[in-house]
Amino acid sequence: MYGLRAVFGLGLLVGGARLGVRADSCLRTVGGESAQCRQYRTGTAMAGRMKYLSQEEAQAVDEELFNDYKFSVDQLMELAGLSCAIAIAKAYPVSSFTSSLPTVLVICGPGNNGGDGLVCARHLKLFGYEPVIFYPKRPNKTLFENLTTQCQKMDIPFLSEFPREAEIIDGTYNLVIDAIFGFSFKGAVREPFANILNILKRISLPIASVDIPSGWDVEKGNPDGLQPDMLISLTAPKLSAVHFSGRYHYLGGRFVPVALQKKYNLSLPDYPDTDCVRRLL
Ligand SMILES: NC(=O)c1ccc[n+]([C@@H]2O[C@H](COP(=O)([O-])OP(=O)(O)OC[C@H]3O[C@@H](n4cnc5c(N)ncnc54)[C@H](OP(=O)(O)O)[C@@H]3O)[C@@H](O)[C@H]2O)c1
Ligand SMILES: *[C@@H]1O[C@H](CO)[C@@H](O)[C@H](O)[C@H]1NC(C)=O
Ligand SMILES: *[C@@H]1O[C@H](CO)[C@@H](O)[C@H](O)[C@H]1NC(C)=O
Ligand SMILES: *[C@@H]1O[C@H](CO)[C@@H](O)[C@H](O)[C@H]1NC(C)=O
Repeated sequence: MYGLRAVFGLGLLVGGARLGVRADSCLRTVGGESAQCRQYRTGTAMAGRMKYLSQEEAQAVDEELFNDYKFSVDQLMELAGLSCAIAIAKAYPVSSFTSSLPTVLVICGPGNNGGDGLVCARHLKLFGYEPVIFYPKRPNKTLFENLTTQCQKMDIPFLSEFPREAEIIDGTYNLVIDAIFGFSFKGAVREPFANILNILKRISLPIASVDIPSGWDVEKGNPDGLQPDMLISLTAPKLSAVHFSGRYHYLGGRFVPVALQKKYNLSLPDYPDTDCVRRLL
């Protein structure tokens, strides 16, 4: 049925609003493909009309998972972080790096997105990567203390200072994981993260962003911000994902109960078999 919509160029439903991009105009695009066309192509390839969430919707789904469905934060964080590690291992397999132990710089922010990063780092270590964590602003909560201890006890080093130059990062690591901000980010980036993001903008290594590229407006993106190579959307993509122009877009966090998917009209695509991630782009 959605295939037919595509044939007739009816456009794609995103976040409840039609983008009005036509199949034929996308096919004729020469050179740089517009975000809308990419979106159209992805949507067509998935034969779906997955909803891209506003910030408010993302936060409402989140609250409902905890308050009504009685999940605990650490439960979902474990599944989210594991999804991220699995998606990263699919996009950048250990065997694709020339160094025998691929080093991964995992930058964790002050909220739950940072928690996802800690969980992701722990699983990456188990998958054969060599993660190193930078975690400058740590919340005074046992959940994050426990996740930090788990990483420390798995011999994952924590940097005390952020590398001063982009070149140092490029020369030391093979991949960067951006777990700084997720769907609660608002306003102008405050320190120390503004400086970190400025340095990250100048590196040439691939960056994989957890849920939202950090520094992006959750709905509008940020044309002057980071342009990660990979985005792992958790639960459902947020509106800004339309502007993602990297190579890999994955959906992860296969934990949303059907009733909740229906209530928010998520129209999530199927995950293959028992996988907890699915490639969208
Ligand atoms: N929904 C789910 O089901 C689910 C499940 C698992 C994991 N997650 C993860 O949780 C994430 C959301 O976590 P969250 O709600 O804790 O929020 P977050 O997106 O991780 O960010 C919140 C933190 O960022 C800070 N912050 C916000 N804007 C800032 C700015 N402009 N400059 C500097 N700092 C800023 C906040 O500081 P202040 O408090 O000082 O403002 C707060 O500490 C998701 O993106 C996803 O990665 C979600
Ligand atoms: C951390 O939280 C505990 C309990 O909530 C409190 O007693 C302690 O003073 C806090 N420490 C800091 C540094 O804020
Ligand atoms: C942190 O770990 C302690 C000790 O295992 C446990 O009692 C506590 O419930 C954990 N806290 C959270 C929030 O997971
Ligand atoms: C879901 O879709 C139905 C029917 O199209 C609409 O009435 C409802 O408001 C939508 N709900 C949300 C949360 O978008």
